[in-house]
Amino acid sequence: MKKYKRYTVTAALPYANGPVHIGHLAGVYVPADIYVRYLRLKGEDVLYVCGSDEHGVPITIKARNEGVTPQEIVDRYHGMIKKAFDEFGISFDIYSRTTSDIHYKTASEFFKTLYEKGEFIEQVTKQYYDEETGQFLADRYITGTCPHCGNGSAYGDQCEKCGTSLSPTDLINPKSMISGNQPVLKDTKHWYLPLDKHEAFLRQWILEGHKEWKTNVYGQCKSWLDQGLQPRAVSRDLDWGIPVPVEGAEGKVLYVWFDAPIGYISNTRELTDKWELYWKDKDTRLIHFIGKDNIVFHCIIFPVMLKAEGSYILPDNVPANEFLNLEGDKISTSRNWAVWLHEYLDDFPGKEDVLRYVLCANAPETKDNDFTWKDFQARNNNELVAILGNFVNRALVLTQKYFNGQVPEISALNDYDKVTIEEIAKIKASVETSLENFRFREALKNAMDLARLGNKYLADTEPWILIKSDEQRVSTILNIALQITANLTAIAAPFLPFTAEKIRGFLNMKTLTWQESGHAELLPAGHKLNQPSLLFEKIEDEEVEKQLQKLEGIKIANTGKQKNVKPQKPSVSYDEFAKMDIRTGTILEAIKVPKANKLLQLKIDTGVDVRTVVSGIAEYFEPEKIIGRQVSILINLEPRKIREIESQGMILMAEDSAGKLVFVSPAEKTEEGSEIK
Ligand code: MF3
Ligand code: ZN
Repeated sequence: MKKYKRYTVTAALPYANGPVHIGHLAGVYVPADIYVRYLRLKGEDVLYVCGSDEHGVPITIKARNEGVTPQEIVDRYHGMIKKAFDEFGISFDIYSRTTSDIHYKTASEFFKTLYEKGEFIEQVTKQYYDEETGQFLADRYITGTCPHCGNGSAYGDQCEKCGTSLSPTDLINPKSMISGNQPVLKDTKHWYLPLDKHEAFLRQWILEGHKEWKTNVYGQCKSWLDQGLQPRAVSRDLDWGIPVPVEGAEGKVLYVWFDAPIGYISNTRELTDKWELYWKDKDTRLIHFIGKDNIVFHCIIFPVMLKAEGSYILPDNVPANEFLNLEGDKISTSRNWAVWLHEYLDDFPGKEDVLRYVLCANAPETKDNDFTWKDFQARNNNELVAILGNFVNRALVLTQKYFNGQVPEISALNDYDKVTIEEIAKIKASVETSLENFRFREALKNAMDLARLGNKYLADTEPWILIKSDEQRVSTILNIALQITANLTAIAAPFLPFTAEKIRGFLNMKTLTWQESGHAELLPAGHKLNQPSLLFEKIEDEEVEKQLQKLEGIKIANTGKQKNVKPQKPSVSYDEFAKMDIRTGTILEAIKVPKANKLLQLKIDTGVDVRTVVSGIAEYFEPEKIIGRQVSILINLEPRKIREIESQGMILMAEDSAGKLVFVSPAEKTEEGSEIK
C-alpha cells in the first residue's frame, strides 16, 4: 500500500436542523473518531474535519414553522451539536459551520473557478412560482394531492403516505405553502454540472481503481454509473444560502449539496494556513466517513467538482455505513424516534464510553442494524463490566492488596506466561489490521480480546490462591496482568478514550504511543500505582424499562399524528396574533337554542362584563353540566347574529381529527378575565 505523509479525515457535516442522535454517532462520527485517534497514536499527521451543514430547504421550513429566521435555527442547533460531539469525545480538529465567512468565500471562489473554466452548462426550465410572494417555490414548499394514492397533503418531492417520489408538476391542485395560493409555472435559469461528461473518468477511477472500497459503496457507485449520469443543477431559487456569484443570478443560491462538501475545505482553511497541503498534495490521503444516503455525493458529485476544479486530490476511500435503527424502527428526527445524545447524557451521566462501545460493537457496517436498550444493557453488563472492568479491577486491587500498590517483579517466566505475552503483540496486530480496513466492530472485538486474555490468565493462574504458598509466582503473575492492563491504555484508547485515560491514571503512567505498546515491559518493577476505582457499573432493569417507556410514549404521540391531523396553516406575525383578545371566563347560564340542535346560548362572566355567546357545542355537552366551568373566550370577535341572538365572542374549543370537541380551560382556576397570550 502507498505510504502517505498525512491524512485528511472528514465526517459528514450534520444538518443544523435538529440535535444529533445515536444513528449519527454509530454511522459516522464514532468510526471516524476511532480511526483518527488510532492514527494520532501512531504519530501520523492527521486532521479530523467536520462542521454543521447550515443551508438547504428543510432549515428554511423549520424556521418558517417556528416564526424565526433560518439563522436562529442554525445557531441553536450548531451549538447543541458541537457540544454533544465534544461531550462524547469526538475529537475533531475543527468543528465549524457553513455560514462562516471563510466558507462563503471558499464556496463562491470554487463556483467561480468552475464557471470560468466552462465546467457548467446553463439551462432554463419551468418551475412553480408564487405570484403573491414573488418567489420560486422549492419542491418541499408545494403541497397538493398525490396522483397515486389521493393523499391531500403530499409534498412536491414526495408523498409521505405512499412513499412515492414526486416532482411538483405531478401534484393535483398544487398549493404554495407560503401563501396558500395556486402557483404558476415560470421560466428560471440554473447552472448544471454535467456529470455525464465525467462518466468515463469515474468508471475508470472507481470501478477499476477502487475495487477495495466497501461492497456497499462500490455497489452503489456501480449502479449509478450503469444507469447513466445526468447533468445536476448546482443552484436553486431560494433566499437562504450562498448567492450564486455570477451576473444575472439574483435571488439564486448554491445548491446545499454543492456548498456543503466544500465546507470540508473551508473548515480546514479556517483551521490552518497549511490547508492546501491537506487538500492538494498527492501525499495526503483523503478519507470521507459518511452514511449510505450520502454515497453519490461523496463518490460521484464531489469528486467531479474536485476534478473539474483541477488542483485538488480525490478521496482515497469512502467507508460509508448503513443505517442504525432504534428498537426495530427507522430513526426519524421528525417523528422524534431517536435517542438524542444530550438526553442520553442526562440519563446516563459519565457513561460516554458505554454508548461509544455499544454503537461501535453494533455499528451498521455491512447492513442496517438495530439499537435496542436490552442489547445496550447486555453489552454493558456482560462485556464492559464483566470482561474489561473486571479484569482491570482485579489486576489493580490484587496488586494493592499483596504488593502495596507497587508493580511486583518478574522472577521467572513459564511457558504459559510466554504464550500470554506473545498474545499481546498478536492482538495488537489484529486490531491494527481491522482498523486499517475500516472494520471497526472487528477491531473493537479484537481490542477486547486483550481484556479477555487478562481475565483468562488470572482465572487460570489463580494468584489469590497461590498467594498463601508462592508469593514469588504471584509477583510474576500480577506483573504480567499489569502489563496487559497498561497495553489497554493504548489499544483500547481509540474506542474508549475516557476509560483508557482512567486506566492510565490508575497505573500512574504516561500516555503511550501505538508503537510503544504491544509487549510486556511497559511498567518497571517497583513503579507506584494509584488507588483504582470501578470502571463500569451494572445497568439495572429499571433503567432499561424507563428508556423503553419513554419510547412507548413517543410511539403513542406519533400514532396520534398519523391520524388525519390538519396540516399547519400559513404563518401569522406576532402582531396579528396579539390583536386577538382572549380571556378566561366562567359559564353562568346555558340553554339550548330552540330548533337548532347544535347551538347553545351561554351567559359568560368574562371579567370585563357578563355577555351572551352562541356556541356550536350542543352535540357534545348537556347545558346543565357545563354551568360553572371556566373556559377560554375570544372577546373581541365582531358581534354576529346567530338565529336572531347576538353572539358577543367565541368560546375556544379543541377539535380532534374525529370532530370531537373539548373545552380549552385553564389548568387551574384563575381570575376571570385573565389574558390568554
Ligand atoms: N448534511 C448532510 C446530511 O446530513 C451531509 C452533508 S456532507 C457534506 O446528510 F459533504 F456535504 F458536507
Ligand atoms: Zn401518495
